[in-house]
Amino acid sequence: MSAKTVLITGASSGIGLALARVFARHGWSLALVARRSDNLERLAVELKESYGTDSQCIGFDLTTDNAARALYDEVRFRNLRIDCLVNNAGRGYFGSFIERDHQLEEETIYLNVTVLTSLCKLFGRDMVEQGGGRILNIASIAGFMPGPNFAVYHATKAYVLSLSRAIHAELKSLGVTVTASCPGPTETEFFDKAGTGVLKAMEYIRRMPAEKVAEQAYEATMKGKPVVVHGMLNKMMVESPRLVPKSWVAPVVKSLMR
Ligand SMILES: NC(=O)c1ccc[n+]([C@@H]2O[C@H](COP(=O)([O-])OP(=O)(O)OC[C@H]3O[C@@H](n4cnc5c(N)ncnc54)[C@H](OP(=O)(O)O)[C@@H]3O)[C@@H](O)[C@H]2O)c1
Repeated sequence: MSAKTVLITGASSGIGLALARVFARHGWSLALVARRSDNLERLAVELKESYGTDSQCIGFDLTTDNAARALYDEVRFRNLRIDCLVNNAGRGYFGSFIERDHQLEEETIYLNVTVLTSLCKLFGRDMVEQGGGRILNIASIAGFMPGPNFAVYHATKAYVLSLSRAIHAELKSLGVTVTASCPGPTETEFFDKAGTGVLKAMEYIRRMPAEKVAEQAYEATMKGKPVVVHGMLNKMMVESPRLVPKSWVAPVVKSLMR
């Protein structure tokens, strides 16, 4: 029997790269997507040597017009049947909502929300026709609370969490499960790119290794769990907004985001 295939967006670094290693170790073939093709090619060689798995590298910018449709067409052109979709590519920018560059935030919404939604729809339809499949969306603990000074990012992750829960409920009876993975701070390139260098809180926040997040996300996806929050501290963090009046949550988060 031929190996199942997983498509992972944002496989060139961080959590996506760690997920590629986990899927490969479990015998999956891979379709790896990101802009940095060199990283993908290197990873494909490593996965072949370590696990004997086949990978297709798709160098692709997911912020271009009609990106989801174009990626889907490319996957069909390559004759790949996708059994698991991992929507991992994402980004966020730290800073004042008013001062932050508008175009960067529009691209963030497009990548984190629009493209993710379209990929769920396009590949989700195929999975239903195929009689089953798995979708893993990388959300964040940010999705559980508003994030002053990280406002757009938190809002996009709240969307990912809500969408994932809803379509899990719709698709489960059709054989397709949708899992929202909610990591807290994780050791990747994310914070450097987000510009959180000025954030005092980053000095004492302990970050989880990307490998650990990937292991837990894989396990939850294979079990068809709708939501996984990674780590005890993060589990407590996502419950904490329920313990205080709603009006306190954003000001408290703001006081941490300095
Ligand atoms: N690190 C954390 O603390 C943390 C916590 C919670 C959730 N998350 C989420 O985890 C996911 C992965 O982030 P990470 O922490 O692993 O950060 P990362 O190391 O920066 O990885 C981001 C990945 O997304 C890809 N990507 C970004 N823009 C893209 C574009 N326009 N087209 C195609 N691919 C693009 C990047 O590849 P290229 O640059 O090569 O295109 C890279 O592979 C994100 O959704 C993030 O929101 C992260």
